[in-house]
Amino acid sequence: MIDRATIDKVFDAAQIIEVVQEFVSLKKRGVNYLGLCPFHNEKTPSFTVSPAKNIYKCFGCGKGGNPVNFLMELEHLSYTDAIRWLAKKYHIEIVEKEETAEEVQQKNERESMLILTQYAQRIFVENLFENREGQSIGLSYYKERGFREEIIRKFGLGYALASRDAFSQKALRDGYQKEYLLSTGLSIEGEHAIFDRFSGRVMFPVYDLMGKVIAFGGRILKSDAKAAKYQNSPESDIYQKRKALYGLFQAKKAILQEDKCFLVEGYTDVLSMHQAGIEHVVASSGTSLTEDQIRLMKRFTSNVTVLYDGDSAGIKAALRGIDLMLEEGMNVKVLLLPDGEDPDSFARHHSSSELSEYLQSHETDFITFKTKLLLDEAQQDPIKRARLITEVVHSISLIPDGIIRSVYVKDCSRMLDSDEQMLIREVAKRRRMRQEERFHKESQNFPEAVLYSQEDNPPLPSRSEDDLEIAEKEVIRLLITYGSETIWISAEEPSVKVSDFFVREIEADELSWKNPLYRQVYQEIRLAVSKGVYPESRYFITHIDPSVSSLAADLLSSHHSLSSLWKSNEVFARTEDLQLREIVPLCLFELKSKKVMALLRDLNRTLAGVKDEDQIRELMNRCHALNEVKMELAKSLGQRVIL
Ligand code: CTP
Ligand code: MN
Repeated sequence: MIDRATIDKVFDAAQIIEVVQEFVSLKKRGVNYLGLCPFHNEKTPSFTVSPAKNIYKCFGCGKGGNPVNFLMELEHLSYTDAIRWLAKKYHIEIVEKEETAEEVQQKNERESMLILTQYAQRIFVENLFENREGQSIGLSYYKERGFREEIIRKFGLGYALASRDAFSQKALRDGYQKEYLLSTGLSIEGEHAIFDRFSGRVMFPVYDLMGKVIAFGGRILKSDAKAAKYQNSPESDIYQKRKALYGLFQAKKAILQEDKCFLVEGYTDVLSMHQAGIEHVVASSGTSLTEDQIRLMKRFTSNVTVLYDGDSAGIKAALRGIDLMLEEGMNVKVLLLPDGEDPDSFARHHSSSELSEYLQSHETDFITFKTKLLLDEAQQDPIKRARLITEVVHSISLIPDGIIRSVYVKDCSRMLDSDEQMLIREVAKRRRMRQEERFHKESQNFPEAVLYSQEDNPPLPSRSEDDLEIAEKEVIRLLITYGSETIWISAEEPSVKVSDFFVREIEADELSWKNPLYRQVYQEIRLAVSKGVYPESRYFITHIDPSVSSLAADLLSSHHSLSSLWKSNEVFARTEDLQLREIVPLCLFELKSKKVMALLRDLNRTLAGVKDEDQIRELMNRCHALNEVKMELAKSLGQRVIL
């Protein structure tokens, strides 16, 4: 690991012109330099380098960033290798942050464990397809359940032979060490020998985000056995159950594409849904969802639909897990399957189109679901009713986003036939109580909270942005370009800094962010501002997280296409500075309206798939509530209107 001071030195020394010129010939054009883009084929140069900002930007293909980004992109270097490359060029001595012997050993151990789990997975697959026992017992089990070979291969399913130590012995013969067989939990130590944890079971490997196998679940085949249905790998240095989501590796592309994720209970539910063509699905693997799992999912989407068995007694218990998702700002929907069906059986008993049609038309948002569920129970009993209101108010108060909260309050006040103002007060009270606590916690972990670790965060593939994200981006652009500038918004209030204004307003309405990268940048600014620090553009351009520096370069390069708020692309630098006091509040308003529009759009999409009269009426009411919020917003352009 390179130490932070060295990285800073490298960023200080590295001149974008000098770095780019090693690969591209540049011509001076005004204050900038121009050349042919090395990242895409072009005949007329659109690749611009700005020595003043120390960034490059191609207006043809959109790539841009600092010297480190340039090397990473062009030479396919890792972050640290790009730093090393620059250090060499500028004769900067690299100080490696000493890794303790313990750290080195731990890293090696993890590596060895991962090598072993990859090997184990290969053996289990081999058993399944090539071994007589595997074929006749394992493969025929999968086939009987209706899993096609393509799905079995896609998820790397396998079979562990029935003999008590077949795998352990083979692994030892192939040169793997006993130590790692035990630490991965593949083997169990007996008095005189080691035995297989998994024998005579069909094997479901669990992958991490990079596609490495980190654990296994093994299902027993005999239904009458007293043994547990599933045997799972124990917790280890490479596997923490609370941080893994089954199927995420295979689902992540589809989740990004659909901007949505289905959450089911078990391995087989995931498999059956994939087989039926629904690929944006992950499983919590039987336990209730943890905060870590939710955050993991949220890196890909904020929209989750939880699938329940129709007769599940676990609904009540699951309600708690859902509260946790609300708290993390997820947009949660619930889908009940017909009595006696789980996602696996339902997917098998219906055609792909029937399945997607059912999923389309049966999801309800969580608050409505919970309200109705409790309402059915409470009937006319006044005490139960009061408790019901408390419960629902509790869930609503967990939602971090102010706009969404106010829509739910309007909705519930109608469903529960209770006073909207009363609900607003109750929600606000609960939030106040929690806020103090939260504030206390957060103010303690800056700047550690924003430290970037490349290993934990493989970059997400990019996807196209919608209106809401474009509005978010515009706010981020103003924040990193003009964050420390002072503006006068109105006669009644003294001047404020742009960052202060945005942070104050966004916190007051508790707006949440859709785009994870923008959310990350905003959080960092918010924490800085709360400490009286106003990071300059340069801070973001030389940011240690390459996706942030590259974003900064993109936003700061002058031809950046502005939102519809700007009359012409000519309006720049100076003029924008001058107009900040108008642009800033307008941008905030834009953000809020785009958020409401996005909710409305989502609603209309749901409405299109629904046939049930009751449900249609309900959704229409929701539409109505949203339109009210929209109107209130428009009335007080730029002012706070939300709970
Ligand atoms: N599970 C577990 N250990 C058990 C039982 C369940 O780890 N003893 C986890 C597994 O991840 C399983 C999930 O809980 O996938 C859901 O359990 P269940 O519905 O019982 O299993 P399915 O995977 O649906 O298996 P099947 O359809 O074959 O019964
Ligand atoms: Mn099941």
